[in-house]
Amino acid sequence: MLENIEKYIEEVRQFEAAHLDEVEQFRIRFAGRKGLINKLFDEFKQVPKEEKPRYGQLLNTLKKVVAEKVEDLKSKLQNQAAATPSGFDPTRPGYPYRLGSRHPVSLVRNRIIDIFRRIGFNVSYGPEIEDDWHNFTALNLPEYHPARDMQDTFFVELHPDWLLRTHTSSVQIRYMEQNRPPIRTVSPGRVYRNEDISARSHLMFHQVEGLYVDTDVSFADLKQTLLYFTREMFGENSRIRLRPSYFPFTEPSAEVDIYWGLKTETDYRITKGTGWLEIMGAGMVDPNVLANMNIDPEKYSGFAFGMGIERIAMLLYQIPDIRLLFENDLGFLKQFKSVL
Ligand code: DAH
Repeated sequence: MLENIEKYIEEVRQFEAAHLDEVEQFRIRFAGRKGLINKLFDEFKQVPKEEKPRYGQLLNTLKKVVAEKVEDLKSKLQNQAAATPSGFDPTRPGYPYRLGSRHPVSLVRNRIIDIFRRIGFNVSYGPEIEDDWHNFTALNLPEYHPARDMQDTFFVELHPDWLLRTHTSSVQIRYMEQNRPPIRTVSPGRVYRNEDISARSHLMFHQVEGLYVDTDVSFADLKQTLLYFTREMFGENSRIRLRPSYFPFTEPSAEVDIYWGLKTETDYRITKGTGWLEIMGAGMVDPNVLANMNIDPEKYSGFAFGMGIERIAMLLYQIPDIRLLFENDLGFLKQFKSVL
């Protein structure tokens, strides 16, 4: 009889459980009302007299180790239950996790897209390696047209007709090949020009092109759309002015200036003392361009605009040198924390 109890004590000491209900079954088996311990107490009367002290002692030990075991396992398993089933404990303090930040060019591009999306523009893309037709000829810039000199071009040696697009205006053409009016689209992307790299210019940069074609589109629509854009981008008190200009693909054409003010010395320098800063080119789509796309210029009219993303980023964030945007210095990039 005594050996029996010793075996039980050993069994209890060895017991392990993976779930709380196993612990409960274990408790019932030993310490339940009809459990082993009560049974052994009932048998106490039949124990020979000389064994009684030792029996009582062992029985008390058994009772104690069962109670301790149940307590132990319960608290252990309850702590584990606070963690998820995978054993992951969300209450543990985390490791410091360093978040990246969006590149300022992406931040500005996303903001521009977002502003035009709100007034019904979609987003379209075209290839960076273009052919002559989409980058120049279809845009009313035939071969030997002097205006081609406005944009120094990288040509692709593999093919006499290929080049790196010099502007996102090429996406206008691709879009009109695939879609009929009404058209409202903005086309962000990378462009390339064979220019010396300096604080103000780079051989690779980003533009957003805009195209709107429908019946009865007027210059007033263009102006109002651009005013809406500048106010969303630079604040509700922004002012713009349109200066007559020349682009082969628009007629009339304009350069769009934003009023930057003349509060600081830098303002004087970057606006050359005028207070005004050029932020984009724009105009009414030239009827020749529409005709190239088999869109009837008698029936449809449209406007287009193109802006440099780096230029706007530099204005918004007061970045003095365009090269900073392409050096990927983490100390510089970390300053741009917007969620857009
Ligand atoms: N493509 C011109 C450039 O790269 C910008 C531009 C001007 C785009 C006038 C337009 C426009 O759509 O109408 O300088």
